[in-house]
Amino acid sequence: MDDTGVVAVTDPAAMIRKLGDPELRAPSQAVTEGEIGGPELTKLLADLTAAMRAAHGLGIAAPQIGVLKRVFLIEVADNPRYPDAPRLELMAFLNPVVRPLGDEVPLEEAFEGCLSVPGLRGPVRRFASVRIDGLDPAGRPVALALHGPFARIAQHEVDHLDGILYLDRIAPESLSRLGFRDALAAAGVDLGIQRGTAPAWSRLEPEAA
Ligand code: NI
Repeated sequence: MDDTGVVAVTDPAAMIRKLGDPELRAPSQAVTEGEIGGPELTKLLADLTAAMRAAHGLGIAAPQIGVLKRVFLIEVADNPRYPDAPRLELMAFLNPVVRPLGDEVPLEEAFEGCLSVPGLRGPVRRFASVRIDGLDPAGRPVALALHGPFARIAQHEVDHLDGILYLDRIAPESLSRLGFRDALAAAGVDLGIQRGTAPAWSRLEPEAA
């Protein structure tokens, strides 16, 4: 807001809340049936898309723009920060639930970043494959199997809905490897999105409600 009281958002990325903002630490509420298709949810999805793209993120969760609703987006396409990543079209999930896909899913470590923690990257262990169940923006059940980087993004984004940041997931013995992206890259640390898991995602039959 400027001194005339006019809100002028020239950069959608400016909507993104940063570490220290209490909204990032608060649990989000489920989207209700009555909200689906409504103007507030429509605006939220548009704002999230704009903010994520402006900041070149691979995912974004509603609390990151100060809306405590269980909504996140994922999009991996033509991202200058991750030119080698496999593609995933823009998808929005309402009330998502993520769990390991299978009984003995290995954990994989890779470096993560977060639009709310700009500049930093740190090593986090996540399930290598997950199942996500949720609703699409029209309220239809959707279920996907996600592997590798997509599984990681989903776990990271769902954590945001519970007020958890990736920094909380860094093992104490790995905390010394947390660093600024530029410094880590200069030191030769591999910050690339994981590759080699194919297919990286597939659709699953949604569970009966
Ligand atoms: Ni994040």
